[in-house]
Amino acid sequence: MAVFEPVLLRNRDVEDSTSLSVYESRGGYGAARKALKMTPVEIIEEVKKANLRGRGGAGFPAGVKWGFLPKDRTRTLLCVNADESEPPTFCNRVLMETDPHQLIEGTIIAAYATQSQIAYIYIRVEFHEQFHILQRAVDEAYAKGYLGKRIFGSDYSLECYLHRGAGAYVCGEETGLIESLEGKRGWPRIKPPFPAVEGLFRRPTVVNNVETLCCVPHIIERGADWFTGIGPPHSTGPKLFCISGPVKRPGCYEAPMTITVRDLIEREDMGGGMLPGKKVKAVLPGGVSMGILTADELDMKMDFEDPRKYALLGLGTAAAVVIDDATDMRMVLRNMARFYGTESCGQCTQCREGTAWMHKIATRIAMGAGRIEDLDILLETARNMGMMPGLSICGLPDGATYPIETIVNKFRGELEAAIRAQAPERAKTVLSVLN
Ligand SMILES: Cc1cc2nc3c(=O)[nH]c(=O)nc-3n(C[C@H](O)[C@H](O)[C@H](O)COP(=O)(O)O)c2cc1C
Ligand code: SF4
Repeated sequence: MAVFEPVLLRNRDVEDSTSLSVYESRGGYGAARKALKMTPVEIIEEVKKANLRGRGGAGFPAGVKWGFLPKDRTRTLLCVNADESEPPTFCNRVLMETDPHQLIEGTIIAAYATQSQIAYIYIRVEFHEQFHILQRAVDEAYAKGYLGKRIFGSDYSLECYLHRGAGAYVCGEETGLIESLEGKRGWPRIKPPFPAVEGLFRRPTVVNNVETLCCVPHIIERGADWFTGIGPPHSTGPKLFCISGPVKRPGCYEAPMTITVRDLIEREDMGGGMLPGKKVKAVLPGGVSMGILTADELDMKMDFEDPRKYALLGLGTAAAVVIDDATDMRMVLRNMARFYGTESCGQCTQCREGTAWMHKIATRIAMGAGRIEDLDILLETARNMGMMPGLSICGLPDGATYPIETIVNKFRGELEAAIRAQAPERAKTVLSVLN
């Protein structure tokens, strides 16, 4: 098997990798210079041909999204989604803190392709250090004439601003992000209109994830055919994967989307296997919102298609959390339910009430006062909320229901046994406190 050469992380271990001079000494900004000699349409066609699917979670093809913009591109804006709010995801963070100019170069090319004259990078407030690294890189790019008026001596001008979020999960959702950028509460908007038609400041807007944009310079530099040569046809290009939990080498790794969950856990150059004495019980492979796998399902491929065969929502953020055999699944269930119960923005009844009910029921179960029928109530609640059944404004409740449904369905035996083993007196006391 040919050794995969890192693309997105190629500068990670290089000394002073965040500086413009080091980035340029390694070929950086060559793609931007090349792109500015192409027409915007040529760039969009190349990105379409590469089948670059968005790395932010939904996997929507970037070139197709750019093509949705109105023909008159004079008012277009570009938003870079650097909110990275999905637990336990940190691919974007690694990209920004080790190679900020790669993101700036991708932003320049995407902005030119969509004829945006302003790019906003929306970065989560917790990324304090990364914000400063990125700001320094933006300042350096301005000083060199790579941002600002007539960049690289061309006729094209681009302003780039960093904007810090205030720490809400839902601000990672593209229209929540847009509202927040406008200075309002981060409430997702009803769609349509989609941002490509009416987004930031009511102008046509493209929102793309950091990793998606970091792929763009490489597509321009090496061509769409090179990009499609990496990974399966539906999941092309290099991809970052995170792994955390009781493995020997938790971290962020790069590979084609041919790897399996087992590879990510066991390969010596990735997770390196489980810590001594620990066994895999379950894995949340795509952030928390995609759902859970059992230890028998580790052959799932980390691509955009395979997760559905395992009753998961999708690849998500490709950030895996490994859960070991000493973990009580009631606690995992409760942890998931608590997260969504506290992060729902509250606009839609099904999401606001549904996530709160699930949190309450899962807490009851975790504290030893569950009932067998609670498991069915959880499943029924999960089925009756979400954007996909058309009951809510954004995808947060879809992400809330997949972990709950898959934990209940795949670990039902363990949950039922734990409920049956509860001490009745304790259950009574817990219920009297909770109700
Ligand atoms: C609740 C919620 C949170 C999200 N959080 C993020 C996020 O932190 N970062 C991100 O890039 N996309 C996030 N998304 C997806 C964005 O709405 C959007 O699809 C993405 O930024 C588009 O970029 P891409 O096409 O390059 O993937 C989130 C979606 C939902 C429903
Ligand atoms: S679905 Fe939930 S998070 Fe999304 S807008 Fe509605 S209430 Fe807010």
